[in-house]
Amino acid sequence: MDDTLRRGPMLLLAGRANRPLAEDIARKIGIALGEVTIHTFADGEIFVRIDENARGRDVFIIQPTSPPAENMLELLLLVDAARRASAARITVVVPYFGYARQDRKDQPRVAIGGKLMANLMVAAGAERLLGVDFHSHQIQGFFDIPVDHLYAAPVLTGYFREKRLGDLVVIAPDVGAAKMARGFAKRLGAAFAIIDKRRPAPNVAEVLHVVGDVEGMHCLITDDLIDTAGTMASVICALKDRGAKEVYACATHALLSGSASEWLASSPVKEVVVTNTIDIGASRKFAQLKVLSVAELLARAINYIHMNESVSQLFEAPLDEMGA
Ligand code: R5P
Repeated sequence: MDDTLRRGPMLLLAGRANRPLAEDIARKIGIALGEVTIHTFADGEIFVRIDENARGRDVFIIQPTSPPAENMLELLLLVDAARRASAARITVVVPYFGYARQDRKDQPRVAIGGKLMANLMVAAGAERLLGVDFHSHQIQGFFDIPVDHLYAAPVLTGYFREKRLGDLVVIAPDVGAAKMARGFAKRLGAAFAIIDKRRPAPNVAEVLHVVGDVEGMHCLITDDLIDTAGTMASVICALKDRGAKEVYACATHALLSGSASEWLASSPVKEVVVTNTIDIGASRKFAQLKVLSVAELLARAINYIHMNESVSQLFEAPLDEMGA
């Protein structure tokens, strides 16, 4: 029997963490999002119910696990509901995987939060995971189920390629971002530089040295995420201080915690380009912010997974049609 028939028709579900992205994905696939009832009781507990038949269907549940922790709980509850409703297969689509920065025991008596989150998803009943730009590639190994790990790089570099910025240097804001930044530099035919950064305290970033030439250049800082923007803001200022012509910043995941937006808005950055893996509320948007969509990327990956086709063609495929 054809594999897709065995898994039954696709059922696309979403929690409340990023409904605009989920709706956009559904539109691109050409089906409606499945009906779910989700509400929060007075004491804060979450209730979920899948309001249509899930028996024998190939279920995809879209939910980034960005804070608050309720987003993660909601995903687990949806997975549990789908499993108990006899779904044929359950794939969690996690555009942003939270807790990924807690990926090792680098101090005594600390938790490995990323591994715990992976365990919880699998224990609830997830059978596959589709994610975008994990904080580190090794996180795939936290899951003993198949993981399809996509890169937002084609979306972001496509945008900057169209700008045709001359004298461009791509900046890695720390050693962890070097691989991603080198990939960007290669795709954009740009030079590469790296920041020697230290963290004197959690969420505080300090630029020690800029390794590479930035004077009179267009600079593009690339990172996987912007949280407090301490890293981005300090690197933007350091590059301007060293004579950069214009500074652009880009990142896949825009957490924009605390005063991040105000901080970036008042910095000398030309543009901050992020994707919509996390729903950015109106209050966190600012004039220099540009949001690109990963809906097309995820829609195509979901289709390929459903049809049992390779998703690796998405890594290099032109995705120029994706816009803001
Ligand atoms: C660090 O390893 C990450 O890639 C980001 O640079 C960092 O987590 C960003 O955090 P923040 O915006 O708070 O500096």
